[in-house]
Amino acid sequence: MNFKFICLGFVTLWCLLWPIVSQPPMPDGFWYGEEAAEEKVLIEAFFDPVCPDSRDSWPSLKQVFQEFASRVRLVVHTFPLPYHDNAFATSRALHITNKLKNTSATYHLLEAFFNHQEQFYGKATINKSRAVVTEHIVEFTANALGSSYHSAIKSGFNETNTDLATRYAFKYGCIRGVYGTPFFFVNGFPLPDAGSPLDYKGWRKVLDPLLG
Ligand SMILES: *[C@@H]1O[C@H](CO)[C@@H](O)[C@H](O)[C@H]1NC(C)=O
Ligand SMILES: *[C@@H]1O[C@H](CO)[C@@H](O)[C@H](O)[C@H]1NC(C)=O
Ligand SMILES: *[C@@H]1O[C@H](CO)[C@@H](O)[C@H](O)[C@H]1NC(C)=O
Repeated sequence: MNFKFICLGFVTLWCLLWPIVSQPPMPDGFWYGEEAAEEKVLIEAFFDPVCPDSRDSWPSLKQVFQEFASRVRLVVHTFPLPYHDNAFATSRALHITNKLKNTSATYHLLEAFFNHQEQFYGKATINKSRAVVTEHIVEFTANALGSSYHSAIKSGFNETNTDLATRYAFKYGCIRGVYGTPFFFVNGFPLPDAGSPLDYKGWRKVLDPLLG
């Protein structure tokens, strides 16, 4: 299946999504790195920022992407799982960041969440109100982006469009059949073993035949 054909598939998907969402949104996703010179493989990853398996799958995906960056495109979508505390709010922080800055800042924040997930679930937040947890996420995000962004991040959490962007990413995953994280598509096809991390060897097994 070639790349243009996949793009055409996405255009069709947007058209299908159009009547479902009240406002036609921008295409979802955070594109990693530069545009590939010769696009052969599209990897789509659905991650929950507070999911340990998403965290564990990121280093090998990043490594394999960096190795084949000239022929691979990578896009990450947020997919907050309902059974992970604060998955939606941390995902929203990523959408806010992506609007305020650029995707490299978004990935920087995603990695910061991955590295400090324990601050956002279980005992750490069980007795905290939603407002207190949101404030902590604002502080955490401002730490990652720079303190001058603090008030912009805070008001981002008070803006409907960032809420809608995060919901839209979730719905997009639902329409694609995503039911856990991490969840990967390669050239539009879902990889087996959804919900468990794929290691470097596993990625090479998938990509080598496609890259020739
Ligand atoms: C994105 O933001 C980072 C961090 O603020 C900055 O250093 C970088 O130059 C920006 N990159 C682009 C491509 O604008
Ligand atoms: C949460 O609050 C309850 C009731 O005040 C207390 O018994 C419990 O130890 C607290 N848990 C944590 C993890 O702070
Ligand atoms: C959030 O927005 C409402 C109006 O939409 C405004 O009244 C309120 O002051 C805002 N709160 C913060 C913390 O910015």
